[in-house]
Amino acid sequence: MGTRRLIYLNQNESPIPPPPHVIEAAKASLEKINRYPDPRLKEHVTELASEYIGVDPEHVVLIPGADTIVDMTSRALKTREYIIPEPSFYDIILGSFEWNDVRTIRYPLDEILGKLENKGSTGWSSCGLIDNPNNPLGILVFTGKPPTGIPLIVDEAYYEYSGQTLAPHVREEENIAVIRTFSKAFSLAGLRIAAAVFPSEEASRLRRDPLIYRLTTPSLEALKAALEDPAYVKENVRVVEREKKRVAQRLRELGFKVYPSYTNFLSVETGINNITRILASRGVIVKSLEKWIKPGMIRVTIGLPSENDFLLSVMEEIISSD
Ligand SMILES: Cc1ncc(COP(=O)(O)O)c(C=O)c1O
Repeated sequence: MGTRRLIYLNQNESPIPPPPHVIEAAKASLEKINRYPDPRLKEHVTELASEYIGVDPEHVVLIPGADTIVDMTSRALKTREYIIPEPSFYDIILGSFEWNDVRTIRYPLDEILGKLENKGSTGWSSCGLIDNPNNPLGILVFTGKPPTGIPLIVDEAYYEYSGQTLAPHVREEENIAVIRTFSKAFSLAGLRIAAAVFPSEEASRLRRDPLIYRLTTPSLEALKAALEDPAYVKENVRVVEREKKRVAQRLRELGFKVYPSYTNFLSVETGINNITRILASRGVIVKSLEKWIKPGMIRVTIGLPSENDFLLSVMEEIISSD
C-alpha cells in the first residue's frame, strides 16, 4: 500500500524553507541553549528589525508571534475592548479575548473604519485591531492612513505581499501601532517571532511583559541571519506571486469566483457543498470558510508549483465528476 500524498494549503505558511544561512544560524545556536537568550542579541535583532521596517528601535518590540498581540496589549496596556472586523484573523484566536477577559466589538469590513473614526478616545483601554490585508478574504480593508478616534493596531502579516504599511505613522501623536510577523514571507513560522511597532511609551510597557522572554535563542539567531541578508524574502514573494496569478487564473477558468488577493493565499467561492471535505479526501488540505463565510467557500494557501498543480488537477477532477 503506497502512502497517500497529503498537501497542506491551510495555514498560509511559506511553502519554501528558509535559505541555508538562516537554517545554519538556527542550528549553530543550539550549541548555547544551556544559557538563557542573550539580551544583547535581542537588542541587536530589534535594531535590525527596526531598520527593515523603517522605524526607530525605540518603537519596536520583538514578540513570540503576532498571535500574542491580545495577550500582550491587554496585559501591558490594559486594553479592555477590541474593535475587530468580521471576518478576520481574530476569529481564530478567540481564546485570547476570553482568557484575558476582554470584550470584542465586531463590525463588517466595510463599516469598521467609520465606527473607529466616530469613537472618542479613552487611551488604550479601547482600540481597533484590524488585519490589513484581511485574513481570510485576502483583500485590503484600507489603503493609506484611516482617520481613527481611538488607537488602532494594524496587523500587517502580509506586508511583503501587499506593500501597504502604516509603520511610518507610528509616532506619539498618532495612536497607530503595527504588527509585522516573520512567519509568512520570511518563512519562519515554526520559530514564532514577530515585531510589534508601537509609540515609544507603549513599546516600553510592552517590553516589560514577561511574554517576550519566550523568544528563544534559535528564533533570535535565525531572524538575525534573515535580516542581515534578506534577499530571499523578495525571491519567496516573487515565486508565490507568480504561482498565485497562475492558480487564480486557472480557478477562474474553471468557473470559480476568486477574490483579489494581497497575500499568499486565495479565497475561492466554489459553489460546491462540502468542498473542504471533498478536497481532503483527495489529499488537499485547505481552510474551510464554509461555516465562517458561506457554503462552498475555501481559503487556499499558495504552495510550491507541484502542490498547486496537484490542487488544480483535483479541482478539475471534482468538477468533471460533478
Ligand atoms: C492576519 C494575521 N495575523 C497574524 C497571523 C499569525 O502570525 P504569527 O505566526 O506571527 O502568530 C496570521 C497567520 O495566519 C495572520 O493571517
